[in-house]
Amino acid sequence: MDSSEKVTGMSTSDMHILLTGGGGYVGMSLLPLLLNSGYGVTLLDPLYRGGLEPLLPFFRNSNFSLIKDDMCDEGVIENALTNVDAVIHMAAVVGYPACQREPDRTEKLNVAATEKLCRLAGNRPLIFTSTGSCYGVIKGGLCTENTPLNPVSLYGTSKVQGENLVLSIANGTVLRFATAYGLSPVMRIDLLLNHLTMMAVQSRKLSIYEPSARRTFIHVEDMARSILFTLNNYNRMAGEAWNVGTEEQNLTKREICLHLAKLIPDLELDFEAEGSDPDARDYAVSYEKIRSIGFETEVPLKEGMEELIRAYHFF
Ligand SMILES: NC(=O)c1ccc[n+]([C@@H]2O[C@H](COP(=O)([O-])OP(=O)(O)OC[C@H]3O[C@@H](n4cnc5c(N)ncnc54)[C@H](O)[C@@H]3O)[C@@H](O)[C@H]2O)c1
Repeated sequence: MDSSEKVTGMSTSDMHILLTGGGGYVGMSLLPLLLNSGYGVTLLDPLYRGGLEPLLPFFRNSNFSLIKDDMCDEGVIENALTNVDAVIHMAAVVGYPACQREPDRTEKLNVAATEKLCRLAGNRPLIFTSTGSCYGVIKGGLCTENTPLNPVSLYGTSKVQGENLVLSIANGTVLRFATAYGLSPVMRIDLLLNHLTMMAVQSRKLSIYEPSARRTFIHVEDMARSILFTLNNYNRMAGEAWNVGTEEQNLTKREICLHLAKLIPDLELDFEAEGSDPDARDYAVSYEKIRSIGFETEVPLKEGMEELIRAYHFF
């Protein structure tokens, strides 16, 4: 299918996208891809994370506009949907520590506002950025999209509720992402691979608990590319959940550290640290389904780690 083939039969230059939560880590990698592909974009975000500065260059493009509002506030979603053809819904309280700290805001944004957005979106295509945290603790084998969801954190539970809402409407699609890493104009150093790399650069020592816990990773640029791919292939993807990542980056924490040690030769590794992951994630994921319709990640782990190492020298 040609990349300009659209959900509604319109060309990209006719299509206007509402991008909720687009001022964060993933959104700021996606925004230039959408605009460069000819989509118009309205970004709905109170800019809690990166502020206005990373967005300034985008105001040069008349296809870009910002609604600097909280989507939980009265009337904001209704207003934002005016003249919009499709929705990418990324706004969320993200990660188990943030959700644990702010359970009420998590319920309001991740669930109630998602419900309202689904209700008001009508027949518009709606892409929901979900997470592998929905799988929770899975022992053995690879999770496919048919594996029963078993979230163990409030973050995971709220995302499962969001998925169910999105899949109950006419044109909803769920992308279940691996954990992102890599550089973005709005950084998240709390993400596991970003965090370990920063520790490795700055203290030359990594003390790791649960080194055998397996997680799954994706470069933030590949995450953005997969969302563009979904928009461009909506007719084939609507109404379903899709894992997004690569089996090559299903890695234990020990394996991540050993990769880092190849790039930082004086790195000291200690795998005996005390601690446990409150999200209890230990799983590997199959990405066969999305690969079978033509999406593959492009950024190798080594390249993503090297860019982080180069940048972290200046943090
Ligand atoms: N980063 C990852 O590893 C990862 C993995 C899987 C899924 N996801 C999903 O991708 C999405 C984006 O994640 P991220 O890493 O960019 O997070 P982020 O925290 O960097 O971005 C979230 C954005 O949402 C905005 N926001 C917060 N409250 C809002 C509200 N009430 N109304 C509108 N916008 C609001 C924030 O200002 C922020 O810009 C989330 O839905 C997340 O669950 C991320």
